[in-house]
Amino acid sequence: MSVKKLIAGNWKMNGSLAANEALLRALASGMPVQSVCAVAVCVPAPYLAQFQAMAVTLPALDGIDLGAQDVSAKASGAYTGEVSASMLKDFGCRYAIVGHSERRQYHFETDTLVAEKTQQALAAGITPIVCVGETLAEREAGQTESVVKRQLAAVIHANGHCISEIVVAYEPVWAIGTGKTATPEEAQAVHAVLRAQLKAATDHADRVKILYGGSMNAANAASLLAQADIDGGLIGGASLKAADFLTIIAAAVV
Ligand code: 13P
Repeated sequence: MSVKKLIAGNWKMNGSLAANEALLRALASGMPVQSVCAVAVCVPAPYLAQFQAMAVTLPALDGIDLGAQDVSAKASGAYTGEVSASMLKDFGCRYAIVGHSERRQYHFETDTLVAEKTQQALAAGITPIVCVGETLAEREAGQTESVVKRQLAAVIHANGHCISEIVVAYEPVWAIGTGKTATPEEAQAVHAVLRAQLKAATDHADRVKILYGGSMNAANAASLLAQADIDGGLIGGASLKAADFLTIIAAAVV
């Protein structure tokens, strides 16, 4: 298990200049004085600059890293609407989510595309948070393990020894935004499978953080984060409420 847990908020397509400012100010003022875990917020691309500007005048934001929610599979060029990894780097991004199930589902992202995005992020010095997870139908058909292993295998195959630099997020699709959380035991079982797969690919698998995501909230975070292979959380809805997100951060003491 890696040393420090990572609590990352995925704001998804929510927010406004005013709402973000209020949320970031509330987070900054409530952050633990002594950092107990790594914290990040993955904001919509247009608001990366807002975070960067606020961090200049609000030193308490130092304890929170910036992340994007996606990155292009291409380095630059005629790809209208895309945002490259080097652009994210310009705005101080430390992380980029890749392969979120909402992008796989609504934007038809394939395992190969997700692997290419991971490569672009790593090449720019950005830590990709690679999301994997099964749908309800896949779980009911007993395919959970094969689905997540297939999704992670594509990323391992494309990234070779750099694989120890990624963060993995296990997000069962049926648990996202539904209020249905995997039990700590269900989540741990899948995390152990992912850890074993990483161990077969790198000697440094123990330093790869494997996050859980899917209806993690202030009430259930502690029991999920207590599991041996759960190294943090990727939090959607609850990351939009400062008090809830801060409670999850406090639950991530190693
Ligand atoms: P919820 O926490 O809203 O279920 O979202 C999880 C998620 O998709 C994080 O990326």
